[in-house]
Amino acid sequence: MSASRAHAALASAGGTPVRPEYLPLTVPWIGELEKRLVLETLDSGWITTGRHAQELGRRIAERTGARHGLAVNSATGALHLALAALGVRPGDEVITSTDTFAACVNVIEHVGATPVIVDIEPDTFNLDPEAVAAAITPRTRALLTVDYGGHPADYARLLPLAEKHGLPVVEDAAHALGATWQGRPVGSYATITAFSFYATKNLTTGEGGVAVTSDDALAERLGILSLHGLNRDAWKRYTAAGSWYYEVTMPGFKYNLSDVLAAIGIGQLERFDEFQRIRHERVARYHQRLGTIPEIRRPVTRPGIGHAWHLYPIALEVERLTVDRARFIQELRAENIGTSVHFIPIHRHPHFRDSLGLDAARFPVAEDVYRRAVTLPLFPRMSERDVDDVCDAVEKVVAHFRS
Ligand SMILES: Cc1ncc(COP(=O)(O)O)c(C=O)c1O
Repeated sequence: MSASRAHAALASAGGTPVRPEYLPLTVPWIGELEKRLVLETLDSGWITTGRHAQELGRRIAERTGARHGLAVNSATGALHLALAALGVRPGDEVITSTDTFAACVNVIEHVGATPVIVDIEPDTFNLDPEAVAAAITPRTRALLTVDYGGHPADYARLLPLAEKHGLPVVEDAAHALGATWQGRPVGSYATITAFSFYATKNLTTGEGGVAVTSDDALAERLGILSLHGLNRDAWKRYTAAGSWYYEVTMPGFKYNLSDVLAAIGIGQLERFDEFQRIRHERVARYHQRLGTIPEIRRPVTRPGIGHAWHLYPIALEVERLTVDRARFIQELRAENIGTSVHFIPIHRHPHFRDSLGLDAARFPVAEDVYRRAVTLPLFPRMSERDVDDVCDAVEKVVAHFRS
């Protein structure tokens, strides 16, 4: 961007925005294939859980190096089922990150266990293995790790820790389909891994998710718990292959995915590698452009990591600016750039803060990150020109508020 454009009047002060139309944080890309598969499903006479849901679960398992995959209606459902299938119950503790979505903590409460919330690492915003180690007690029953933005957490330290204490690892890979850790796909090393296909995710069915595991017994329990506790093949009971007879073997939930949505996922999977290729290209452009702005810290990729790049979170060097993060976002909004913040830390939400007695002083890294974090738009339908618009807007706002 030229110096004069960078110093042009801010849109918030009546100047011309960097782009005429609003660029959202993310837009799903639903192609002709997805539309065709959905229409075929609607015409098929079978619109709830069936062969598409099965296929989607199986294909995600194959892709992620797990033996089993269960398609469900959200990652939240997958995480809840994971804890239930592992037998986590009242009196148990489950450790998770403060820099995550509420779902991670809600599901711990839903099985009656106590969430134990830990601080994060400053570079990846993933949960800090040292804080996890310090939080383990005789009541700890599982680790619920989060792969923030698509960057796997530090499993080189977390897996040995879990093994030492005999703890299962439930990996929240809502952001991390397609990521790898030490060359191994996310989904291949944790006890149970949950993927999200929510509307904003790097593969979407609108609402949906998959739980994968390589443990046969856990896979069986996940399947039963996902559909009222009915025995495994009860979903077939209205088909010629099924039987009217079924038995409830445990109190289950209703987390199954409909075939209509699974059909979207199957179409998306065909295009997923292409989606990820474009994401990586856009990230390379962001890295290059933003690398010249000292007020901006770019997201990192640690050695041995294949990043899924679901999010592109920057951190503002607020000490070098005369405005705070909230105002920065407001100015980008005026320039027609959509952003978000991932996440409002768990310890700042009134329910968790009050019920778990979480004091912000116990989360110095997450508090520091929260003052700075801004997630920039990133999605495969975004053009390189769109990335340049975002970078121009960031440059423009920084130039006006440099201290
Ligand atoms: C880190 C994380 N975990 C879990 C979820 C829940 O995903 P879903 O909407 O599929 O339940 C989200 C959703 O945004 C998330 O960001």
